[in-house]
Amino acid sequence: MNTPDAAASEHTRGSSRITPPATGAEASILGLGAYRPRRVVSNEQLVERIDSTDQWIRTRSGIVTRRFADEDETVAAMSVAASRQALAEAGIDADQLDCVIVATVSHLLQTPSVAAQITHELGATPAAAFDVSAACAGFCYGVSLAADMVRAGSARHVLVIGVERLSDLLDLTDRSTAFIFADGAGAAIVGPSDEPGIGPVVWGSDGERFDLIRQETPWPVDPDPGEEPDPDGIKGAHVLRMEGSPVFRWASFEMAKVAQRTLEATGLTVDDLDLFVPHQANMRITDVMARALGLPPHVVIARDIAEQGNTSAASVPLALRRLVEDGSARRGDLALLIAFGAGLVYAAQVVRMP
Ligand SMILES: CC(C)(COP(=O)(O)OP(=O)(O)OC[C@H]1O[C@@H](n2cnc3c(N)ncnc32)[C@H](O)[C@@H]1OP(=O)(O)O)[C@@H](O)C(=O)NCCC(=O)NCCS
Repeated sequence: MNTPDAAASEHTRGSSRITPPATGAEASILGLGAYRPRRVVSNEQLVERIDSTDQWIRTRSGIVTRRFADEDETVAAMSVAASRQALAEAGIDADQLDCVIVATVSHLLQTPSVAAQITHELGATPAAAFDVSAACAGFCYGVSLAADMVRAGSARHVLVIGVERLSDLLDLTDRSTAFIFADGAGAAIVGPSDEPGIGPVVWGSDGERFDLIRQETPWPVDPDPGEEPDPDGIKGAHVLRMEGSPVFRWASFEMAKVAQRTLEATGLTVDDLDLFVPHQANMRITDVMARALGLPPHVVIARDIAEQGNTSAASVPLALRRLVEDGSARRGDLALLIAFGAGLVYAAQVVRMP
């Protein structure tokens, strides 16, 4: 048996070489999927509690209806449904996934990740699995991570899910949030391709404005475990609050600059684009950004918010999927994605449509 001294004399510290990871291929989105909850909720159903009108909501946000999930439409269940559609479109099986990334802020358990549960339910175990907390920018963060993994060789196929059940975090008497936020799931398979299908990401954060969209208090810790928790009190404590006007100004003007920088980083101009798919935050924000960018008339602008509401991390993949379903997007089209939200955080990239 080696004594520590004998072992030390045969070993030169730090001299062995680490085998580098295999380098991968170019990365593209290979398939998209969506799940929209069954329950359609009209403006009329919400206005009484917020002293508003259908007309005000339509003109100030562009929202006509939204979807709220029923009890069985959990974060995991909606994600699994969207993912199965994305897998089918990509033509791969769940056991070919190497990693599952779930972007969400409305999975109400801090741990374990919902990504691990979804991976199991899909039959993708032992794929790596983790959640991303980047609010409405989460899906674009996930696509960027996935593309880097495929290019670096640490994964071949990555499932990126954006999913929210924001109705669980809504105060339906709050006039700046009750009519905006909604539920749903979207999914994308990112995998290898001959040509680059996902351009460079432009992303960032501005934590000085962390309090513009936030949960007002941390998840409540029951001070007296002997007492029954008060369900209304718990709900009251963790709902989402938003300072609508400063968010509106920031999103409308700062995000157009991020979109412009993204085009420059990708070596494209607005004339090269076929589709513009911004986070579905508010139709007026979309219109201001489109004008600031000077989008030519041939660029199709995603307007999924009208029927879906603002679904945070799910909004970009849901909007992409609608463009595929209604025939506005064709295989090979170039789409500029940009998403932004609580943090504040943002991310944008150009992708080629599967
Ligand atoms: C929430 C939002 C629609 C409010 O629109 P707005 O034009 O900024 O509204 P303001 O808060 O400036 O209020 C304007 C007026 O409408 C009223 N108002 C506000 N909310 C209202 C509502 N739900 N119904 C009717 N009236 C409302 C205000 O009282 C105010 O009335 P006044 O002019 O008589 O004082 C808008 O700020 C917004 O979309 N912000 C960004 C949302 C977003 O993108 N969030 C997600 C980012 S991820």
